[in-house]
Amino acid sequence: MNSRDRFLKTAQLEKADRPPIWLMRQAGRYLPEYRELKRKYDFITLVKTPELASEITLHPLKRFPLDAAIIFSDILVIPEALGQPYNFRDGGGIQMEYSLSNKSQIEALDDSAITEKLNYVSEALKLTKKSIGDTKALLGFSGSPWTLACYMIDGGSSPDFSRTSQFAQRNPKEFYLLMEKLSQSIIHYLNMQIDAGVDCVQIFDSWASVCTESNYYSQSLKWIQAIIDGLKKPIPVILYAKGMNHCLNQQLKTGAIILSLDWTISLKDAARETNNQCALQGNLDPQFLTTDPSTVKKETENILKMSESLKGHIFNLGHGMLPTAKVECVEALLETVTNYRYG
Ligand code: CP3
Repeated sequence: MNSRDRFLKTAQLEKADRPPIWLMRQAGRYLPEYRELKRKYDFITLVKTPELASEITLHPLKRFPLDAAIIFSDILVIPEALGQPYNFRDGGGIQMEYSLSNKSQIEALDDSAITEKLNYVSEALKLTKKSIGDTKALLGFSGSPWTLACYMIDGGSSPDFSRTSQFAQRNPKEFYLLMEKLSQSIIHYLNMQIDAGVDCVQIFDSWASVCTESNYYSQSLKWIQAIIDGLKKPIPVILYAKGMNHCLNQQLKTGAIILSLDWTISLKDAARETNNQCALQGNLDPQFLTTDPSTVKKETENILKMSESLKGHIFNLGHGMLPTAKVECVEALLETVTNYRYG
């Protein structure tokens, strides 16, 4: 069974020979070949140059037996295309060029010609698809409207995104306008990715946990549901909502068919919670990849033990790869998963 078939079978809730595996933020600071390119080009140039973005997408596939490639890009390309550029703070973290704080700034976001402005992502996907053909699954992605709003309203990385939650509470009309603009832009963006050949898309709601349980639907899930409804073709959608394991059933109502879990819930409990209706993705704590190969093997086996009884399982990390991840730990993880077979 080739990697793409293994991935697609699992995403369609059929059993494959073993769980497919890919890693969140699989391109990145932990790989010397990425660091080498970063010496020559800044991050935004890498993202915006299709040949380079495609080359970086393929880095981890050249090294490791992964079943899927996620396109090298960033969730912040959407705010950038709307007219709110991003950059990096010296000490780490995101800095937006300005913070959204009033109605006129939201009205000024230019949501016309999104696919033209983001055509470089389409080109990078097409180049990548040409290289991998039908051997590996190709994943596209987007941030959720809520998570993008967090960066846009808070103006960059924040410990609690309190400006965003306050803005949403105090200015419901303006917040609604922003969410409409973001959702429509993301629909166009993901449909462009589908046209470019992605097999599946992941929606990152990394800051979902800023929402209270009672506001989660209206502030975040509702907009994700609108996006999934707006996709031109019924492709599998993976939803990742960090810190929201108490709301898995609410997440399923969006139409996502795979829920990606952080490491704070066991796959077994998540399957029970969701009545084993969907595939689950995850959920090794990325910190383990900074330890040693035997610890990684043991922790990976713990997760694999639970895989058997799931409707479907895609092996992944509970969040993005850390810059301090050790290549030998990634190798131990991959060896353990790729040698595993369902009984
Ligand atoms: O696996 C992949 O490499 C796919 C591409 C990808 C990146 N970012 C590349 C990237 C994906 C899927 C993302 C998603 C993303 N970006 C999210 C959602 C997932 C998550 O991690 O919660 C978020 C919140 C962002 C915004 C963002 N971009 C952050 C918070 C950072 C780290 C900033 C820092 O200094 O700590 C980035 C930068 C980024 N995006 C890197 C990569 C490879 C690291 C860039 C570098 O330092 O060279």
